Amino acid sequence: MRAILFLAGLMASGALFAQTPAHQRMQALLADPAALQAAVAAGGKASFFCANCHGENGISKTGDVPNLAGQHPDYLLEQIRKFGTGERKDAFMQGLIKVLSDEERAQVTLYYAKVKVPPNQSDPAQAARGKVLFDKLCVRCHGQDAHGGKTFPRLAGQQRAYLQKSITHYRDGTGVRNDKLMAIATSVLKDDDIVALAHYLTQLP
Ligand code: HEC
Ligand code: HEC
Repeated sequence: MRAILFLAGLMASGALFAQTPAHQRMQALLADPAALQAAVAAGGKASFFCANCHGENGISKTGDVPNLAGQHPDYLLEQIRKFGTGERKDAFMQGLIKVLSDEERAQVTLYYAKVKVPPNQSDPAQAARGKVLFDKLCVRCHGQDAHGGKTFPRLAGQQRAYLQKSITHYRDGTGVRNDKLMAIATSVLKDDDIVALAHYLTQLP
């Protein structure tokens, strides 16, 4: 109940994610159609380096590297901010993010947000079990279709191994992923629940 009140307060204030200069730049670009088109094109070019790991068009070919395609730009910018401050830990991403300007951060995230992400194959029995857990524990934030929203990430079509790894980090408080809401939401999950949830989410369109 306390978690719900906390969340309602944040949503009412309209700012779950911190407003950085890159966020402000993104909002200015979103308000100007011609500038937005140019920014998305520039982001596509700038993303060639990211493609080494996140795949062509942000669709990852490696299970434990996330897709960036189809993800909300607010969420991507928030994760870039967290890598920058060390609130989220990944040796490579923490170093890389320091060299991206605010303009480049806004451009690449706006570009990835526009790419469609294809669903993946998974085990139908595991997915069915995962759906029951998701509908009970996760929909109120990530949405019925797991497409998320401005303040919550999209999970549909995400890489299975990456989902499993991330959910486990939130639950176990390893210090890699830090988020109060996710720590509460995942605290009741057993290891095989996490496997089932990842099977369910990766095959969603
Ligand atoms: C050497 C490989 C590598 C390269 C190159 C790379 N990344 Fe990453 N990135 C990763 C890994 C691995 C993770 C997941 C870390 C974890 O497990 O939490 C990640 C995570 C992210 C996330 C968080 C996504 C989410 O769903 O939470 C963002 C945003 C991101 N990268 C942006 C970028 C951008 C933008 C570029 C190019 C400028 C880039 N990355 C280049 C390896 C890479
Ligand atoms: C009270 C709201 C809330 C609930 C309930 C919730 N989440 Fe989240 N979830 C979030 C927020 C906020 C984030 C972003 C946290 C961050 O910045 O790391 C997130 C992030 C995630 C991520 C990371 C996505 C990525 O690209 O790295 C996964 C995976 C996830 N949630 C899965 C779940 C699952 C599975 C459940 C149900 C067991 C769940 N969430 C329930 C709010 C919620």
